[in-house]
Parts: sequence; structure tokens; C-alpha cells
Amino acid sequence: MNNTLQLCVQVLVHVYLTAVISRNQEGPGEMGKAVRIPKDDQEKMKELFKINQFNLMASDLIALNRSLPDVRLEGCKTKVYPDELPNTSVVIVFHNEAWSTLLRTVYSVINRSPHYLLSEIILVDDASERDFLKMALENYVKNLEVPVKIIRMEQRSGLIRARLRGAAASKGQVITFLDAHCECTLGWLEPLLARIKESRKTVVCPIIDLISDDNFEYTAGSDMTYGGFNWKLNFRWYPVPQREMDRRKGDRTLPVRTPTMAGGLFSIDRNYFEEIGAYDAGMDIWGGENLEMSFRIWQCGGSLEIVTCSHVGHVFRKATPYTFPGGTGHVINKNNRRLAEVWMDEFKDFFYIISPGVVKVDYGDVSVRKALRENLKCKPFSWYLENIYPDSQIPRRYYSLGEIRNVETNQCLDNMGRKDNEKVGMFNCHGMGGNQVFSYTAEKEIRTDDFCLDVSRLSGPVIMLKCHHMRGNQLWEYDAETHTILHIITQGCLTVSKLYDGSQGTTVEMCNGGPLQMWMLRNYTLLEVIRKVFYSPLDYKL
Ligand SMILES: *[C@@H]1O[C@H](CO)[C@@H](O)[C@H](O)[C@H]1NC(C)=O
Ligand SMILES: *[C@@H]1O[C@H](CO)[C@@H](O)[C@H](O)[C@H]1NC(C)=O
Ligand SMILES: *[C@@H]1O[C@H](CO)[C@@H](O)[C@H](O)[C@H]1NC(C)=O
Repeated sequence: MNNTLQLCVQVLVHVYLTAVISRNQEGPGEMGKAVRIPKDDQEKMKELFKINQFNLMASDLIALNRSLPDVRLEGCKTKVYPDELPNTSVVIVFHNEAWSTLLRTVYSVINRSPHYLLSEIILVDDASERDFLKMALENYVKNLEVPVKIIRMEQRSGLIRARLRGAAASKGQVITFLDAHCECTLGWLEPLLARIKESRKTVVCPIIDLISDDNFEYTAGSDMTYGGFNWKLNFRWYPVPQREMDRRKGDRTLPVRTPTMAGGLFSIDRNYFEEIGAYDAGMDIWGGENLEMSFRIWQCGGSLEIVTCSHVGHVFRKATPYTFPGGTGHVINKNNRRLAEVWMDEFKDFFYIISPGVVKVDYGDVSVRKALRENLKCKPFSWYLENIYPDSQIPRRYYSLGEIRNVETNQCLDNMGRKDNEKVGMFNCHGMGGNQVFSYTAEKEIRTDDFCLDVSRLSGPVIMLKCHHMRGNQLWEYDAETHTILHIITQGCLTVSKLYDGSQGTTVEMCNGGPLQMWMLRNYTLLEVIRKVFYSPLDYKL
């Protein structure tokens, strides 16, 4: 090489390195910062947003290996994990994913995991239609430092079946499932694998950090929330209860036992995944599989934890860009019926009474799953509610479940969509569940999900407030002979009233024995029992 050329190369290398270094510090999105799109590009940005329902322009501007802040608790940064950890296959299902988000997921796994712990990365393509996800992707991943296998589903199969395929092809001792638009942070993997090494039947989730769908800003998720669900079987985050803080003696770096998982990201021992029944292959596409797996793990002798020292970011979208064969609602109802029928015993009533429409949805054959439950000698759902999820929205014991109807107006209490602090209305009974379903519980609360009928003073409006289980303003006594609902603290009776804004609502007033204070609780029984309730809205009677 002659001198000029050598110099030239050196200069180029220097320029390149300078560019890289400054890019590392200041490039778009580095350190998890938000990406700002110039005014002139806003129109284009909005167009591109529609493709994946996130800011694709922003994502494409960010380096595939961008830097992220270390969001871990201080106590996590100095934890030492055993040298001998099980290795893992990372299974990522994608469908028409953007190039930049998919590969940023892959890079974050490769760059932030010790390679000896990575058995392989398996990308399962759920019948994407985009060209760049075919040969271009295959050629690209050949050059990566960790083996990346691509599996193609012949037809659109959905997350559940695609994951099953990926799992079947995996060789690692552990399977780690990730979504296709994630970013793993420093030290994310070791704590997950260490926990599984300690306890093979523990299924572990990282804390899910938030990657903004608008600007890809990275925000740490909280170690103070865990997974639950409501009566409609929607997964929900709730604050970690005090009993769980106490169990960990206040050490927030210790794993949190969680009743359910969000489902997108978790690690599980590969053999245990098989033993415990993998996924319900009778479920379609997506939805409900996370609760199904959560119930199954707990009821069948495993445990489910959020490992708070592990952080993985996820792009949360406000809308899904995908269409499902058969429609989203239908698919989710079917899947939810399968999980309710197999795992929830008599407590499936809560789901069916709040969403009576789902009873018409055909859920196929669940005999194989019931046999699995039998073979694994799994515990009843009441055990789960009592031991794993005592703060569940579903009361374990209750006197009644269904509508609460006034004798005089023949209208029903209506929680107006369970908004915090919203007054309780009176509307024509529609028998369609939803906002007209209440449970009068053994704790003498009148509640839907975790909202309770609450009133603070005589003549005050009755509102829905988060149940606090401290009795007080949320304590009611139903008398089946007089049909009155007495509010203990004010000694007033639940009454249909015109509210100050002119609307029909409820207050508590001095008890007068009048019909505006007489109520019928659907299928009320004097015994506080777990009981079957009937579903037809038509044959209502006390
Ligand atoms: C990303 O990759 C480039 C090119 O290999 C490298 O020079 C740079 O340091 C990487 N950035 C980070 C944040 O690691
Ligand atoms: C994973 O661990 C198992 C058991 O130690 C070993 O047989 C296998 O080769 C490992 N796989 C990789 C890719 O390191
Ligand atoms: C609920 O009430 C209806 C109507 O009175 C009755 O037919 C049904 O048997 C009751 N269900 C139970 C489980 O008591």
C-alpha cells in the first residue's frame, strides 16, 4: 500500500470513528432519548406511523444498537450471579414487523447478553407479507455474532401457534420469549436465568419498560406493579400489595410473585414448558393465553415472578396494526372462554355475567386441556384466589352476583363504566351485564372489579371508589325481608334520588321503608357461598 492510500485510509477511519463516537453520544435516540422529527417531515411521519402504529420514521433514525440508560435499582447493579447458568434460546415471533424495530430487538439481545448464555435466536415469521423480511433478513442475520434461525409459518397462525413452533425448534435449556419490538437492557438476562436455575418451576418476567410509540423515548417500568385481571378477563397492572412487600422484607431487588403475566416477555425452563402444557394450541391468534398460562402455572404447582433486576423495553401501541381472521373480539372471546372453562371453575360466572354475549361463542373442544389439568393434579381456582391472589377483583365469597334492581322504578344500578369517583346511576335494566353487574360480597361490599359503592354522608351521592377493604364508607347490609340496603356508617338506606344535576342517581337517606329504598339483588342467598348463578337475563326474580 502506498503512503497516500494509507493516509487516506487512516483519515477515513478517523472520520468514521469520530462519527460513530459522536453518534453514540448524540445520535437520535441514544441513551433512550426521545427522537424529535423536524416540522417539515411531520406529514411524512404521520403517513409512516400508520404502517406499524408507531413512529416508524423515528425508529428508522435510531441506531440498531442504540445505547440505553441503566434503569436498574442500585441494589441490582452489584448483584453477583452464579457462573454456571442455563443457556437460553430467544424466541421472537413477528408479523410484518418494521426492519428497525425487529433488528433493534435482535441487536439488544446480542449486545447485552453474555454469548455463552445464548443458545440461539429464533425468529418465527408469522406469514409476513413484506419483502424485506424475506431474503434480505435472511442474508442480514447470517453475519451476526449469534446464530439466528428463521422459521416461516406457512400461513397466518397467530402468536400462540407461532411460539409453539419456535419452542419446538429451540435447543437452549431455557426458552425466552420476546416480542418483536423490544430492547433488552444491560444485565437483563442473568437474573432471569439465575432464578430459573434456583427454581426450575419458576417462570420469570422482566420488568417491562416503556418505549414510546410516538418518539421511542425509553422510560423505566415500575417494580411496584404486578399483574392481575378484571372480571372481563382483561390483564391489568395493579400496585404490588403490602403482603408481597412484607414477604420480601421490603427488598425491592427480590423477585415479585405475580398472579398473572402480561405475556409478551418471559423465560421458562424448556422442559418445564413442555411438562406444564406449553400453550393451549386450541386458542387462536392472540389474547387470553397469558392468563391461561398464569393460572395454569400457579394452579399446577409452579410459580410466576417478576424479576425486578431485569429490564426489557417494549413499544406499547395504542392500536394494533394487524387484522385477525375472524375479528379481534371474537378471537379473544373464544380464547377467554377456553381459559375460563378449563381453569376458573365456578368463578367463570364473573366473566359470563359481565359479558353475557360471550356465552354464544363456540370455544371448541377443551377435553385435552381438562385432561392436562387432571394429570398434573392442579389445584382449584379458589385455591389460587385465596393463596396467590387474595386481592383479586373477584371476591372468593359473595352473596349475590348480577344486577341490583329497584322495586319502584324497576331500573338497575349502573356503575357508569367504573370510573373512579363517578356517581352511581339508575338506568333501564338491559340484562347485558357490563356496567349493571355488581357483587354483594362476604365482606359486605357492593363491587364491580375493584370499585366499590361508597358514600360519605347522609343524602350524599353514592359513587364508585376503589375498594379499600377498610369497611367504613363501603360497608352495606342487605336485608332480604325488607329489601333495604343499609349503609352502616350513616345508618341511611340506599335510595333512588334525583341528583343535584337533575339526573337519576342514588343517595343514602333516612330509612323510610318506601319502595324507592327497596332492592332486588340477583340470586341473593343468605349464605355467603361460592355459588353458581344462572345466565338468562329474562327470568329475574328474587
Ligand atoms: C453500534 O455499532 C457501531 C458499529 O459497529 C459501533 O461502532 C458503536 O459503538 C455501536 N454503538 C453502541 C452504542 O454500542
Ligand atoms: C446449552 O447448555 C447445554 C447443557 O450445558 C449444552 O449441552 C449446550 O451445548 C449449550 N448450548 C449452547 C449453544 O451453548
Ligand atoms: C337465580 O335466580 C333464578 C331466578 O329466580 C333462578 O331460576 C335460578 O335457579 C337462581 N340460580 C341459583 C343458582 O340459585
